[in-house]
Formats: sequence, C-alpha cells, structure tokens
Amino acid sequence: MRILVIGGAGKAGRHVIAHLIACGHRVLNVDLAPCAVPGVFNRIDDITDAGHMHDVMCSYADFDALGMGQGMSGFDAVIHFAAIARIMIVPDCECYRVNTIGTYNVIDAAIRAGVKKVLFASSETTYGICFSDVNRQPDYLPLDEDHPTLPEGSYAMSKVAKAVAAKSFQRRSGIDIYGLRLNNVIAPKNTPKGSQISLRIRHSVCGTSSATSKPAIWAISSTAPWPRMAWAMRCSTSQVPGIRLI
Ligand SMILES: NC(=O)c1ccc[n+]([C@@H]2O[C@H](COP(=O)([O-])OP(=O)(O)OC[C@H]3O[C@@H](n4cnc5c(N)ncnc54)[C@H](O)[C@@H]3O)[C@@H](O)[C@H]2O)c1
Repeated sequence: MRILVIGGAGKAGRHVIAHLIACGHRVLNVDLAPCAVPGVFNRIDDITDAGHMHDVMCSYADFDALGMGQGMSGFDAVIHFAAIARIMIVPDCECYRVNTIGTYNVIDAAIRAGVKKVLFASSETTYGICFSDVNRQPDYLPLDEDHPTLPEGSYAMSKVAKAVAAKSFQRRSGIDIYGLRLNNVIAPKNTPKGSQISLRIRHSVCGTSSATSKPAIWAISSTAPWPRMAWAMRCSTSQVPGIRLI
C-alpha cells in the first residue's frame, strides 16, 4: 500500500513508519522535520497550511514513482500523528489551533483526493485522566466509546474537537476514519522493558487494517509507574469489536 504518514518524525510516528516499511508498504512522511528511518521518503509540510495538505495528497511518494508514465497515484491510507503533543509546549491557543485546524486540513484534503482510510491519533486526555487538575476516575470500566469525554486543557480539547470534525467528515464522505485514544507512548529508552512495550505500540497502531469503521477506545498495557495510568491499563483487557487488541 501507499501510505502517507503525517507527523512521522515524532516519538510514536517513527516506530509506525519503521513497521510499515518492514511490512512492505511505501511510506511518504510529512512533517516539519524529516524522519531518519531508512526507506522512508520525507517532505516538509505544515498541516496548518491547507494548500500543503491538498498538494501532498496528490504527490509522488518517491523519485522512483517518476518515469513510470502513470502520473501521481493517490494514497491508500493516511496516518495522521502530527500535533502539538501536549500542553505547556506552546501557548494553549496555539496548541488548540495547530491540532484542530491541522486535522481539519488533513482529513479534508484526504477525502477530496479520494483516500479511503484515515487514522488519527487522539488521546486518553479526552477523559481528563492526564494533564487534568484533579485525580479523576472513570465512571465505569472497561471504558468504551460511550464514556463521556471530559477535556480540560487545550490539548485535550483539541483532541475532542478533532473527533467531532472526523465524525462529520465521515458522515458526509463515507470513508473509514479511525481515532485512537492512545495512552502514554513509551519508547524503548523510557523503560527497561521498553522493547516489548514499543513492539506492542507498533502492533496496536498498525493493527486496524481489518477493523470495522466502529470507533474504538484503545489502551495499551504497560508497566508504567504513574498512578493515573493504573485504570487505563485495565482497559487493555477489554474486547472492542472489530479492533485487534494487544
Ligand atoms: N506521546 C504520547 O504519550 C501520546 C499519548 C497519546 C496521544 N499522543 C498523540 O500521538 C501523536 C504522536 O505523538 P508523539 O509523542 O509522537 O508526538 P511528537 O511531538 O513526538 O511528534 C509529533 C510530530 O508532529 C510534527 N508536527 C507538529 N506540528 C506540525 C505541523 N504544524 N505540521 C507538520 N508536522 C507537525 C512534529 O514535528 C513531530 O514530529 C500526537 O497526535 C499525540 O497527540 C501521544
């Protein structure tokens, strides 16, 4: 498949790209910075620029696509990870602006270019369990997609707004759009057991190809010590129809 990864130079995206390439997919990464994973082709684009997103959706994925006489073929799927990935990196309003406008641009451009599947990264923060100003507990476990979202900060708010936009785009276009409410992404260097956890993350992020279009709440199990992750970890034992759990 030809897959456009957006934000693939980041902490999570680079592992997704490595896995996709290992599976034999052609990957173009779009980011403000290049991704160093061997085999990926990079383009520097800004998701907040609608023109950039429309342009890249109809672009060559690599130099070897030139000269084939077939012009630019579309992407089979878009994986959108680009974001200001938490509060307290930039001003709150800038975090909200980049994440919401950027995601609108990505999905809108993908649909207009004929892409049939879009996957974007949401967050556990939509439930107010992280970066909140209280130690909030869920209403019930295991979590499902009907659980209320309780965003507090601008980052969590932006993730909820992204999901609202995605649902609207889905209704009008009919394409498959998946939002993954990820827990904390843990790289191998973050924990002694990181290799195993990183592998799980890669598998979980890439495991949606056979999924239905049913929205999913997703959790990864981990050995992370933070207390607020304790109940989120329990979600990994639940079964969400159509989603391959790890
Ligand atoms: N890291 C976590 O623990 C975690 C948890 C839950 C959800 N998420 C979500 O998963 C996704 C990936 O997270 P991450 O930890 O890899 O984040 P990251 O900050 O490491 O990577 C994000 C990438 O997005 C790119 N980016 C930012 N603004 C951009 C713009 N305007 N145009 C183009 N690219 C831009 C950055 O250059 C970066 O490479 C994000 O959407 C994040 O909100 C992350």
